[in-house]
Parts: sequence; C-alpha cells; structure tokens
Amino acid sequence: MTTLIANIKELLQVRDSNVSIVKGKDMKILPTLKNAYLLIDDDTIVQYGSMTECNGIEADTTIDANGKIVLPTWCDSHTHIVYAGNREQEFVDRINGLSYEEIANRGGGILNSAEKLQNISEEDLYSQSAKRLEQVMKQGTGAIEIKSGYGLTIEAELKMLRVIKRLKQHYNLKIRATLLAAHAVPKEYKNNKNGFVDLIINKMIPEVANKELAKYIDVFCEKGYFDLEDTDRILESGLKYGLIPKIHVNQFNAFGGVGMGVKHHALSVDHLEELNDEDIDVLRNSDTIPVALPSCSYFLSIPYTPARKIIDSGLPLALATDYNPGSTPSGNMNFVLSTACIKMKMTPEEAINAATINGAYAMGISHRYGSITKGKKANLIITKEVPSYNFLPYAFGDNHIDRVIINGQLIS
Ligand code: NIG
Ligand code: FE
Repeated sequence: MTTLIANIKELLQVRDSNVSIVKGKDMKILPTLKNAYLLIDDDTIVQYGSMTECNGIEADTTIDANGKIVLPTWCDSHTHIVYAGNREQEFVDRINGLSYEEIANRGGGILNSAEKLQNISEEDLYSQSAKRLEQVMKQGTGAIEIKSGYGLTIEAELKMLRVIKRLKQHYNLKIRATLLAAHAVPKEYKNNKNGFVDLIINKMIPEVANKELAKYIDVFCEKGYFDLEDTDRILESGLKYGLIPKIHVNQFNAFGGVGMGVKHHALSVDHLEELNDEDIDVLRNSDTIPVALPSCSYFLSIPYTPARKIIDSGLPLALATDYNPGSTPSGNMNFVLSTACIKMKMTPEEAINAATINGAYAMGISHRYGSITKGKKANLIITKEVPSYNFLPYAFGDNHIDRVIINGQLIS
C-alpha cells in the first residue's frame, strides 16, 4: 500500500544521512524542502523530493498538501500518561496559596495519585490512559515514553507497566516504558526510606526486568524524595538488569543529580529548571541529553529550564511534555513548542529539532524516528494551510494540525 503526499508547501526536518541528534549551533538549522512530495510504502518513508521530479510516481492513495507543511510527528520522551483520576483540587489549593511542596508534605501530590492508582481496576486504568493516548496522537505525537511511578508497591507498579504493555499492543505509535519505582517514599516507609530503596533493588527491578516490562529506569532525584546515594544505588542495580537510566533531576534543587546521571551513562536527564555551571560541564563530556519540560514550569510557575545557556554551551536539548496529573496535566507537544519559543527563547528551528530528532534520541529511537529520512517510519504531521513554519509556535493555543499519519496510517 503506497501513499503519495503531493504539493507540500514545505517539508521539514529532511535529513538525507541518518542524523541521530543535533547539538548547539546546529540546532538552529532545520533542513527543509519547498514544493515537495513524499512517498510512503506501507509504514516507511521511501522517497521524497521536489515536485518538479514527481512526474510518473504513482501511488494507491494521493493526498494533496497544497499550502500545507509536513513534518515528522513529535517524539514525547517524558510522560506519566498512565494514571488514575486527576488532581484538580490541588490545582485550586495552589491558586489559594499552598505550594506544590506543601501539598506533597501533607500527603497530597504523588501519594494522592498513588492511592487512586492502587484502588483502580486494571481495566479502568487502561481505558483512562488509552483516552489520553488517543488525544495526544491527534495532537501529533507519534512516539512516546511512558513511566510507571504512581504504584509505589510492586503490585501497583506491575499494574501500571502491564497497562503500558497493553497500550503498546493496541496502538501503532512507538511506546517505550520506564520503571520509575523511586518516585516518592510511600507512607509505610516514611521513617525507613532505605527499606523502600532495598525493596526497589531486591524485588521491583528484578521482577520488572525479568518480565521485560520496561526498557528504562528513572528516579526522582530531589530533596525530600531520593538523594544522590539512593539514585546511585538504584541506577547501578537497574543497569545490572539492562535498564538504562533516564532520570528526573534539578526540578527544584541542583545538588549533583546531573553528574550522577552522567556517571551511569543516563540516556537523558530531565527537568533541569535549576542548573549550574558544573552541570553544564559534566554534560559536555557525555552522551546524555538534557530534556526540558516547559509545560511543567508553566503549570507550577517555577523557572524555565535555561535553554539558551544549554544550547549556547554547545549541548543538545530535547523538549517533552511531562504529561502527569500533578505538575503537567497536558500532553500537547504543540503547546510545548510555543512555550519553548515564547518563554525559553528557543528559535522555531531549535524547538522543532528538540521536539523531533532530539526527542527521538532521548527515547533511544532516533535511527527510526524523528526526521524525514528514507527508511524511517512514516510518522507525519500534515498542517492546515499556514503561512510558514514559524506560524506553528507563534499562533499558540490554536490547532494547526490537519492530519496525522502514524506508521503509514492516517489517524485523524
Ligand atoms: O515530573 N517530579 C516528579 N514527577 C512528576 C510530577 C509528579 C506529580 O506531581 O504527580 C514530574 O513533574
Ligand atoms: Fe516527570
């Protein structure tokens, strides 16, 4: 089954050679092709070029993209999309003056979501999560990382991870699962955090690895959650079982979490709202990609990750949503793109690179996703008629997407 997309006003993120990441100054460059066509065979991009060379190409289906822009779907490398219920009361509590930290300290926050998750049936958890997934696919996400972390018991963590597995089987977008057992210290372990870390190391990691329910391992490395020593122990034990680190660091405090991630060859270090020069230096000598989550900064009114400092230091940067019920109840990558440009002073080219090819790198899939390259998966956004690609982040809050193609199939 072949599909031809013809008369494309501009085809974005066209990479002939298989680029897996873009860094520093190169992030300002977004290779494009004007007046282009693109040919899909089954689930793969097989050809593209100028419309002047399109004569004679025949396909089973043709889509006319006159006036429209085509780009790779978003790669959202950091989400907690599998969760039970919502936390809109905490949102109101924050408006009325409580801080995120105060809410967590009185048993709300992650512990609130964990209680809901422990009490929900696997079936209900699946249907709530599937709805969110369908929504983000319509918003142009074609690859997504999903974390556990609201279980806080072996049974509930396994329930979350089985739901992720079922989503993988049912939907054709790319899904990568992460074990985030160390998301918060459960009430029962309030005075025995080491006991909980031991449980993670001795029971949860082996069980999850043996069942092949996750590819990555995450830790919320933060004051009041898990410290450097806990992070060190958990990452080391995860690695023994083949789980690669992708970790939450520097959301509220910078105290060496970035270095700890790099020490364990983390694929990514995420959040980084607080970032110091040492962190930048340690990232310079690594293959670890920093990931910014601007919707989280927006929602919690905390600082934005210093994208300019990161990129101007020659580093790569990826953008993701952090979709979760507490700090980011939104999985809209289009909003992430706008917010990165408006609040973090990223150029549209940098933001698009960060949300496509670098997002793919941050989830270990950039050999097959994240750019318009022959042989890569046919995961494409076709926009509505827009004046230029700058218009996408500029006209924030509007839906500029006409159609989304995932794995060669039209989904909306
Ligand atoms: O990435 N910071 C840790 N975890 C999530 C939020 C968790 C929650 O509040 O439910 C985050 O922001
Ligand atoms: Fe997160």
